[in-house]
Amino acid sequence: MSTSPIGVFDSGVGGLTVVRALRRQLPHESIIYLGDTARVPYGNRGADTVRRYALNAAHLLREQGVKALVIACNTATAYALPALQEAFALPVIGVVEPVAEEAAARSQTGHIAVIGTRGTIASGCYEQALAAYSAGAVVHPIACPLFVPLAEEGWLDGAVPEEVARTYLEPLISSQVDTLILGCTHYPLLRPTIARVLDRSMGRSVALLDSAESTARATRTMLQRSGLSAPDGQEGALRLLVTDDPRGFARTAVRFFGDGVPMADHVNIIDRFSQATT
Ligand code: DGL
Repeated sequence: MSTSPIGVFDSGVGGLTVVRALRRQLPHESIIYLGDTARVPYGNRGADTVRRYALNAAHLLREQGVKALVIACNTATAYALPALQEAFALPVIGVVEPVAEEAAARSQTGHIAVIGTRGTIASGCYEQALAAYSAGAVVHPIACPLFVPLAEEGWLDGAVPEEVARTYLEPLISSQVDTLILGCTHYPLLRPTIARVLDRSMGRSVALLDSAESTARATRTMLQRSGLSAPDGQEGALRLLVTDDPRGFARTAVRFFGDGVPMADHVNIIDRFSQATT
């Protein structure tokens, strides 16, 4: 079992930012990544829909023989983590807790901003997670739905993303925020623009945290605790699966993963798993 792959999924390409950190931190682990590109975005959908999609994705990965699941999507973590933990006899981890713990430990003022999709922000998952690590934390949540299409299109800097970021982040100007969580796995691509806009408008630097590195650390701990870590001699393989045309995915994936991203295989999730809810 320990030589089996870890299953990782997201609505599309964003979760590759987590895969990159997993590959760096856990080079012996094999990974099967599923991008549900036929149904991206998850961020504007209702809780029941996201939960159903996440269950479909997990069923598909379990069928591939994965030993553990990493939900590399904040929206799916927000709405489906308990459902997946209940439905599958596998260790399951999401991206919210690890970065919330890191943010709570790092913030000096206790004022922490969280940016994410509409779904993630509406769920209140970060308020809940941060309260568990820092009772007095003051959370400043902001939904930034335009960041996902900008990242997917590769509009990462220049006038348009800067103006979008400036508009979204304006409410933070007069706050005491010193730490901002990039609460969507697409957002690390926009990190330089977000940092520049914050520096300029707030006149001081704000620590930007994304979930990739902290989730990879938490995954290592989860595997160790379950006795599922890959043997040191194993060289981790990476396989990518997508639910829509792999060619479009390949073009975008390079931005999220860098060069050396393998070609994805197409899998049918809609006809096969859309009935499965547990
Ligand atoms: N990457 C997903 C997340 O972390 C959001 C993208 C989407 O809206 O599907 O929430």
